[in-house]
Amino acid sequence: MQKNYGVKFLSFSGALPSKVVKNTDLEKLFDTSDEWIYTRTGIKQRHVIDKNESGLSLSVDAAKQALNKAKIDPKSIDLIIVCTATPDKLYPSMSCMLQGKIGAVNSACFDLSAACSGFIFGMTVASQFIYTGQYKNILLVGVDIHSRFVDWSERSVAVLFGDGAGAIVMSSCLAKDDELKGFILRSESDSKLDLTLDNDNIYFTDLQDQVKPDFVRMNGKAIYQFALRVVPEIAKELLDKTNMSMEQIDYLVLHQANQRIIDAVAEKLKVGKDKVLSNIEKVGNTSAASIPLAIVDALASNKIKTPSTMLLIGFGAGLTWGAAVIECNILK
Ligand SMILES: CC(C)(COP(=O)(O)OP(=O)(O)OC[C@H]1O[C@@H](n2cnc3c(N)ncnc32)[C@H](O)[C@@H]1OP(=O)(O)O)[C@@H](O)C(=O)NCCC(=O)NCCS
Repeated sequence: MQKNYGVKFLSFSGALPSKVVKNTDLEKLFDTSDEWIYTRTGIKQRHVIDKNESGLSLSVDAAKQALNKAKIDPKSIDLIIVCTATPDKLYPSMSCMLQGKIGAVNSACFDLSAACSGFIFGMTVASQFIYTGQYKNILLVGVDIHSRFVDWSERSVAVLFGDGAGAIVMSSCLAKDDELKGFILRSESDSKLDLTLDNDNIYFTDLQDQVKPDFVRMNGKAIYQFALRVVPEIAKELLDKTNMSMEQIDYLVLHQANQRIIDAVAEKLKVGKDKVLSNIEKVGNTSAASIPLAIVDALASNKIKTPSTMLLIGFGAGLTWGAAVIECNILK
């Protein structure tokens, strides 16, 4: 593709709710144990929203930090994309509500739904507007509030998810300085409905019943196998496409779904533990926020060098999966 401009990543930020739910707290809700959860998933705790918080409040927090770090006036933002599968409202969109809260009065706004792959899909969509010269500054947010949509008595799903938001500012630069080195997006209809959150159980004839959206339903084994099939494959495909080798990748940043998935993929790709970012122990699976939150965590704890080359891979419901190689020149 002919690029008129390149993409520069100006900042990465994140926001987590203040309430922490530890595995030991879940032991009081259903028959489980810290040991089972930790050995199966690598998760020790997750953050969940309280009544004074929402997906919007976390997005505002993350977005404000990202704009401050990038030293970008909200009025200079041309486009806001919020990637989420669990919006606070079906409409208005999260991005329109966020626009109002941060005063980004000159931006166009839309939400993007690709579940746990949302952030990678959003980043690549945003990049197209920058490459063509249509927009200069884009705010991209990944946010999910799964605590509203898990059945807190269904132990195999409830242990996995946490709430959170991640935000980045992407800006245009010279095409030769492009920090998005390449990407691939893939989708495959989940005909067996191995990972679903239904919203189609509300009918005119049932109006008296005040039916609410359903809970997350998941075939854990099928999703595990899906991840182990597609993630190593797309990693290799993207390295081929960008003429890079795994040795040139400083950090592998996978969607934080399960530490066992992260470890198994790293092993398949022969990537050492020191090159794999993970914060799942502290936050669980935060869906569209998980990749930026993992990067923010690593930056904040000085775990990574700058500049660095990162291979990001998201996967999730849809089914969807996507990979991007980026250069990260951000210090904190
Ligand atoms: C969910 C997941 C951790 C379950 O692990 P698993 O090893 O497949 O476990 P199983 O579902 O086979 O369950 C094994 C046993 O543990 C039990 N179990 C399930 N959840 C439990 C929990 N929270 N605590 C204790 N026991 C639990 C099951 O009931 C089952 O018991 P049984 O053998 O008596 O029937 C795993 O399948 C997984 O991580 N899948 C991917 C999920 C994911 O990443 N989703 C998001 C993608 S974006």
